Amino acid sequence: MNVNIDKKVFNDVYLPYLDNEDRYLVFYGGGSSGKSYFIVQRFVYMLLKRKMNLLVVRQTGDTNRNSTFALFMQVISSWGMNSLFDISESNLRIRCINGNEVIFKGLDDVEKVKSTTFKSGELTHIWVEEATECQEADINQLKVRLRGGKSKKQMVLSFNPINITHWIKRHFVDGEVAKATVCFSTYKDNKFLTKEDREALEAFKDIDPYYYDVYCLGKWGVLGKGYFNSEKVNKRLEEVEGAEKTGYFDYDYDEMRQMITDFRWVSSPKGFIRIYEDVKERVPYVIRL
Ligand SMILES: Nc1ncnc2c1ncn2[C@@H]1O[C@H](COP(=O)(O)OP(=O)(O)O)[C@@H](O)[C@H]1O
Ligand SMILES: [Mg+2]
Repeated sequence: MNVNIDKKVFNDVYLPYLDNEDRYLVFYGGGSSGKSYFIVQRFVYMLLKRKMNLLVVRQTGDTNRNSTFALFMQVISSWGMNSLFDISESNLRIRCINGNEVIFKGLDDVEKVKSTTFKSGELTHIWVEEATECQEADINQLKVRLRGGKSKKQMVLSFNPINITHWIKRHFVDGEVAKATVCFSTYKDNKFLTKEDREALEAFKDIDPYYYDVYCLGKWGVLGKGYFNSEKVNKRLEEVEGAEKTGYFDYDYDEMRQMITDFRWVSSPKGFIRIYEDVKERVPYVIRL
């Protein structure tokens, strides 16, 4: 199908990814940067252009209705393309007149995700929205679903950088498990926001440093308040050189008992913890709680 879409309807930061075909495509950064909106625009464009079937996944299936599904309806209608799509609100299904389909599911019902089939052709694309809500094991299952077959496959993930220790950073952004193409954006990249929208985000600077870092600047979140003045610590860290160790703490989490059962140090150049002076054996330390 031949369609013409004006470049102006997209935010510039995302344009290089419009025709991207890499297996893993990640959109992360601050809030209101237009990530979700662009991902939907891109899929609507692709649905018209090529043979494909898309599965849209969120942790909780029901939340699709007012987020991902609603966005598809919004984009299709704003592009005046309602006649090219058959939209079923009751089944959360969208069918393009060329046979391509979009299905929306939740990882809270893994069996339903597993049994999803399309009218014609195989599953070619998966979008995991708010992917930080999901377990790494579930995402691994979805990866398996994209293997094999004849056509080119792609998994798109979108999220805010809510926690620097989150598995998604290691897995997709640092690329320790999957080599992903990563697009970073903040509200500054979204030309469709109003002055009020921008001011509301900026206002968090004085209200909540964590929220400001994550949702305004798109920085990886560090939860909890430190004991030391973080500004002074950061200033000192800019001066010191040569960390003795770089790595992170890995831990086992017991889901049933909801507690950490074991943790250990892992040396890795990509770790977010730097130790400038290691603990010495037989030297007493005071731990303040
Ligand atoms: N290409 C666009 N055209 C029109 N409005 C847009 C566009 N991109 C983003 N917006 C507006 O900006 C808001 C924030 O975008 P959204 O995709 O929800 O951000 P994010 O997913 O990064 O938090 C949307 O609700 C929408 O009103
Ligand atoms: Mg979003």
